[in-house]
Amino acid sequence: MPRYTRSSVEAVRDAVDMIDLVSARTELRKAGARSYSGICPFHEERSPSFSVEPVEKLYHCFGCQAGGDAFKFVQEIEGVGFNDAVELLAQRYGVQLEVEAEDPRDAERRLARERLLELLERTAAFYVRYLWDSHEARHARDYLLGRGLEEATLREFRVGYAPSAWDKVLLASRKAAFSNREIYDAGLATRGNGGQIYDRFRARITFPLCDSRGRVLGFGARAMGEARGAKYVNTPENDIFHKGRVLFGSDHARASAARAGRVIAVEGYTDVLALHQAGLRNCVGIMGTALTEDQVGELSRLAQVVLLALDSDSAGHEAMLRAARVAEGRKLELRVVALPQGRDPADMVGEPGGAARLTELVDGSMPFVRFRVERALATGNLRDAEGKDEIIAELRPVFATLPPSVLREELLSLLADRLSLSPELVGSLLAQGRRLAEPSQDEGGSARAPRRLPAQELAEREFLAYCIAFPELGAPALAELDLDRDFTTASTRRVAAHLRDHGVTGDVDDPEIAGILTALKVSARAPEILRGRFEVQRLQLALGRVRRDIAGAPAGEKTALAKRREELQQAYNDALDRSLEQDRLPAE
Ligand code: CTP
Ligand code: MN
Repeated sequence: MPRYTRSSVEAVRDAVDMIDLVSARTELRKAGARSYSGICPFHEERSPSFSVEPVEKLYHCFGCQAGGDAFKFVQEIEGVGFNDAVELLAQRYGVQLEVEAEDPRDAERRLARERLLELLERTAAFYVRYLWDSHEARHARDYLLGRGLEEATLREFRVGYAPSAWDKVLLASRKAAFSNREIYDAGLATRGNGGQIYDRFRARITFPLCDSRGRVLGFGARAMGEARGAKYVNTPENDIFHKGRVLFGSDHARASAARAGRVIAVEGYTDVLALHQAGLRNCVGIMGTALTEDQVGELSRLAQVVLLALDSDSAGHEAMLRAARVAEGRKLELRVVALPQGRDPADMVGEPGGAARLTELVDGSMPFVRFRVERALATGNLRDAEGKDEIIAELRPVFATLPPSVLREELLSLLADRLSLSPELVGSLLAQGRRLAEPSQDEGGSARAPRRLPAQELAEREFLAYCIAFPELGAPALAELDLDRDFTTASTRRVAAHLRDHGVTGDVDDPEIAGILTALKVSARAPEILRGRFEVQRLQLALGRVRRDIAGAPAGEKTALAKRREELQQAYNDALDRSLEQDRLPAE
């Protein structure tokens, strides 16, 4: 890969017009002397928390924490590496790039890496030959074909077989002039107690794990049938192979996923082969259930719509919820393919008519929100008020991402129906604890999705946003509170104290508090923050406190506190009714 000289990269940076560049993705407005703002192109939002500084040529989003320079912007928005970003910008702003003479040490590293890739490639070919030609692999052939997988499919994915001997790969690799060190570094050998090395994969069906350009980085190796020992042995993490970054089959799926605009994610290697064989070629394997951030990033590079076809057991369901958490804040549409219980796609393709049924199931995928609502109803407690509140709290962030639509109305009425409440009430309860933008705590590349806050802290932050939006109501309310008892976290307490003592304007030394304040100021401008709801928010805070007081009170005091809670609950209900009434009035 060419490396461009630092001076030509800097020439590109100088030539970039940051406002022009970003405006191609989102509409910007001048927001200050040295900044512009707009809707963030990296996450879904309704009010602008994205800002661009044209002089420094930087961008930052207070909602999802995306941020960086022009190169980072192109890398993130186009899903490309640094070099590609430099090339794209050089072309767009007419800068001639110069290639750096390669540092000898870098050249050495690059060559060493290329040799390991070549060794892995050769080994993949060796395993394939062994599967089809050796007497020893006949059971593996029968097993694979017996599961309904065809030879053409197996060959296309370069499925192979690792011999049972301890040194077949070692010997073949040495013969091709690879050193023990290289064989070990490629993950093909393992070390015994005496320090000697021997073949890592033995008597196993091998699946080459490739990058999206089809280069073999490692292997997953499955034991046959009832063999003793681990079902799978995989290449360990090393310089070349990182399991969390690979999607099995992405090299085969890339083109059709781009064409279809959707990619299907399944759990296992054989599932990928099965779907592929059934004609669903836009399919990749997440290799188990622990979908990583990097894999979600890869998925979103393949297509905008991701169909999760994970096993219909609790591990599969958990994995889908996890996937949604990881995907949160990205421009990615998640759908769920409802597989029959206890059967994965690989099982189905072996059955008569299985391929057609699979296609039908994929075509019938449902929006993730529907899956989420149905699952919350299926696992929640519909019998009492607290159970219903929990279901609503669980679904609040789900609905927060759902724009007005027929689907939304349908899900609302489904929910209302099952909870035996009116759709209006369900709608307004869902709207109460809207997610608030906030800086995430952990730095670094993985901090894309906003951290999810506990419901109580969200309620506290939302109240503070109301105090910022309506200071004439907020100041007296804050003055009356006992911050230590009305707020449950150190950060909300400190923000509240700051607002009470200095208002929004005072200087803040602590960067965390400053960050939260900035985020709350943005939230305070959201159209859903209505003056008529202030009292609802205030009472919600008071209710939270009395509930905590009851939990911690000695038995003798509980009755008095319970009475207070009843009163507050009544006041809260009345305030809620009033605010709903006001919502229905036409704006003045
Ligand atoms: N997996 C893994 N390492 C393990 C176990 C599982 O990498 N120790 C990954 C593999 O990618 C595997 C997937 O998780 O394909 C799903 O695991 P499982 O359902 O146990 O295996 P399948 O490959 O689906 O096996 P089967 O042939 O029984 O369908
Ligand atoms: Mn399986």
